[in-house]
Amino acid sequence: MAVRLDQERVGASSMAEQLLRNIGPIVLLGPPGAGKGTQSKRITQHYRIPQVSTGDLLREHVKQATTLGVQVRDIIDRGDLVPDHLVCDIVAWRLREPDAQRGFILDGFPRTQVQAVWLDAFLKFEFFEKAIWACWLPIVVRIQVDYNKLLLRITGRRICPACGRIYNVHSQPPLVDEICDVDSAKLVVRDDDREQVIRERLAAYERQTKPVAEHYQRLNRVVQVNGDLPVDQVTSLILEAIDGSTRSVAGSKN
Ligand code: AP5
Repeated sequence: MAVRLDQERVGASSMAEQLLRNIGPIVLLGPPGAGKGTQSKRITQHYRIPQVSTGDLLREHVKQATTLGVQVRDIIDRGDLVPDHLVCDIVAWRLREPDAQRGFILDGFPRTQVQAVWLDAFLKFEFFEKAIWACWLPIVVRIQVDYNKLLLRITGRRICPACGRIYNVHSQPPLVDEICDVDSAKLVVRDDDREQVIRERLAAYERQTKPVAEHYQRLNRVVQVNGDLPVDQVTSLILEAIDGSTRSVAGSKN
């Protein structure tokens, strides 16, 4: 009994440590449909740090018809990238929120070389120089998926408009056709998940986002993960990669 209580205490304390320790910035890189949103939601639950998805933030502005939303609606509908300064502004605003102090997962950002250089400077100034984190460089997880699978994944995607849960009619269907398992809302298809637009988004990734991976590769920060594997296995690989990187930063501090 005493042993069990001790084990429970250890379990509880390691969970508490998990909640208290700084995780720092995590960047998920990968083409449209790679599984960035799916995996971000799981990492968020594991480390209790927020997901910062520029796609979600921009879509919310479009939905609310804010000045920014009106400005970017057509750009997103075409599958083009929103201008860098607009995206950097909303990211700066979001990362200054108190819940981002222990760390965050960037999903869909940075997506251009300009955004990557901006992020480096922002993290250095906001978190490293203010002694919040020991290392300002993000852990960059690059999710790689066979190109031919991406189109099938995106056309099969369904989203719950109420809770944001992501489904797939082929690989992760809801229990009841087109209905969210969590809140029974009717699932929707994203406006930019039309074949013509998907092709443009994939082209934009090749053109503008691949250099971002090279930027972080030069800084030796990239961990490659096989995104073709089932969702649970991809999550395990990502958590291993993050734990490995945060341990090595902690080790270098001692
Ligand atoms: P954004 O919302 O970021 O979209 P994206 O990068 O095109 O990525 P997706 O959301 O399509 O895919 P995902 O990787 O999240 O995959 P998911 O987990 O859903 O950007 C949208 C637009 O906003 C851009 O085009 C641009 O206009 C603008 N924008 C956003 N950020 C910007 C920036 N920084 N700068 C400029 N403009 C910006 O998974 C896909 C499907 O696959 C799901 O159905 C899922 O269930 C399934 N799935 C996931 N993992 C697996 C698996 N392992 N096996 C089988 N199925 C899986």
